[in-house]
Amino acid sequence: MPASTMDQLVSLCKRRGFVFPSSEIYGGLQGVYDYGPLGVELKNNIIASWWRTNVYQRDDMEGLDAAILMNRLVWKYSGHEETFIDPLVDCRVCKSRWRADQIAGRCPNCGATDLTEPRPFNLMFKTQVGPVADPESFAYLRPETAQGIFVNFANVLATTSRKLPFGIAQVGKGFRNEINPRNFLFRVREFDMLEIEYFVYPGTEDEWHQRWLEDRLCWWESIGIPRDRIHVYDVPREDLAHYSKRTFDLMYAYPDLGPQEIEGIASRTDYDLGSHSRDQESLELTARVNPNRDSTARLTYFDQATGRHIVPFVVEPSAGVGRCFLAVLAETYDEQMVKAPPPERLTAVADALAAFLKSVGRNEKIGPQARDALLERGQAIAAGLPEALPQVETLLGMPGADQIELGKKLRGQAQPLIDEYFRTVLHLRPHLAPIKAAVFPLKRNHAGLVALAKEIAATLRAPGRMRVVYDDTGAIGKLYRRQDEIGTPFCLTVDFQSLEDRTVTVRDRDSMAQERVPVDELHGYLVERVAS
Ligand code: GAP
Repeated sequence: MPASTMDQLVSLCKRRGFVFPSSEIYGGLQGVYDYGPLGVELKNNIIASWWRTNVYQRDDMEGLDAAILMNRLVWKYSGHEETFIDPLVDCRVCKSRWRADQIAGRCPNCGATDLTEPRPFNLMFKTQVGPVADPESFAYLRPETAQGIFVNFANVLATTSRKLPFGIAQVGKGFRNEINPRNFLFRVREFDMLEIEYFVYPGTEDEWHQRWLEDRLCWWESIGIPRDRIHVYDVPREDLAHYSKRTFDLMYAYPDLGPQEIEGIASRTDYDLGSHSRDQESLELTARVNPNRDSTARLTYFDQATGRHIVPFVVEPSAGVGRCFLAVLAETYDEQMVKAPPPERLTAVADALAAFLKSVGRNEKIGPQARDALLERGQAIAAGLPEALPQVETLLGMPGADQIELGKKLRGQAQPLIDEYFRTVLHLRPHLAPIKAAVFPLKRNHAGLVALAKEIAATLRAPGRMRVVYDDTGAIGKLYRRQDEIGTPFCLTVDFQSLEDRTVTVRDRDSMAQERVPVDELHGYLVERVAS
């Protein structure tokens, strides 16, 4: 079963080193996160999978890596200076700030309706370029990578001799000064983007729009988000961005948040190339663009069939890596009861939980929001025992839980049961898993077992094709659980038989089935199973 709450994911990410709040030791920075040792692997694997599918496996795509800092005129003619704006309101009672379109006239912090009139707020970050801080010496941190592609259109065309239709793919950071960053990785101020600008003959854009929708749904499926978990939202005309003729938003139902956009696939007409082009009046543009007196290039394509210069139309699939990361975690997260815990021990946990919740209800140091959240979660766990028992870990990690002395008792009752009777598993597709294989000696104080296990790990690592770890810091059952929780698809155990016949047991994460594989065949065995 996929994750049912965002807290399960936040807790896993913190506990196991997937994601940390940025600058945590100084109190953090709102809306900014760091990817830890496992997070960077998962993130890189998502990006690599996207690049493989969209660049290497197609014959109509090129790659690009444009700079984050660009001439300010890019953002003038793209329309961002004028339109990349959210309506900002202040609560006059508690002084908090909100996006007017997200709060329905009531302050989510204190409930007051005494709000200022909405005023426009441009989401682009500014930075100074060069040593002199005059009003002209600034640049924006790009809010999307797309414009780097449009302004390089002529360069790519000239250096690759591409014919329409073709596309340019780019992965890179985008920055948005969101008024209310929230919901963990879902809405942040700095994030990685996966963007494609696909250039087509005018008149063929509707067909390509549909084809890209299909292709993108296939990719999502290939990383473990099935089609029936994605809702395709055909954005109503009145809600379309200024550049879009039609947009499909792919919506994924995140825990706690409900259906939210993970990717937008927009049909952008000739707006972008037309906006950045000189001689616009001669281009017969269909899109309404701001007159451009600064561009030095005609962003056109010479169509040999007709002998005319045309402005290609654009189809743009654009996704954020963080939202993808979060959807993959949510979708593959699973808490499984391996065997039923003894009833008397379960009763002891239920009693400890009830006492903890009673204490939460009486505690005056915890704020009302945190108290309600703890009570709601705790009651849901109590009603869902025994299956919900692993969620006690999440409960005890929630804000305010550390104020409750009885939390220690609850942990003392629950943790041994969780360790013994449950496992948390990330059913990640093997090509996304941060660690592909973990190697254990059956006994850590047996020199022969340890030496062979270390030798196997080193041999598997040597070609540099996958991350393989050695671990002997616990009993085998515990080591399996640790790897299950981070999605490692294969655990290799070196036992006494290994010393005789040079085979090891390979345990499959999902089925927990084991088979013996000769040491010399391990590399091929794993490569075959962890390839995309
Ligand atoms: N070039 C088109 C474009 O930028 P967008 O819908 O504004 O379109 C594309 O952004 C994707 O970037 C979204 O579908 C979402 O996955 C991601 N995204 C946008 N804003 C985000 C934010 N503040 N935090 C995390 N991801 C974000």
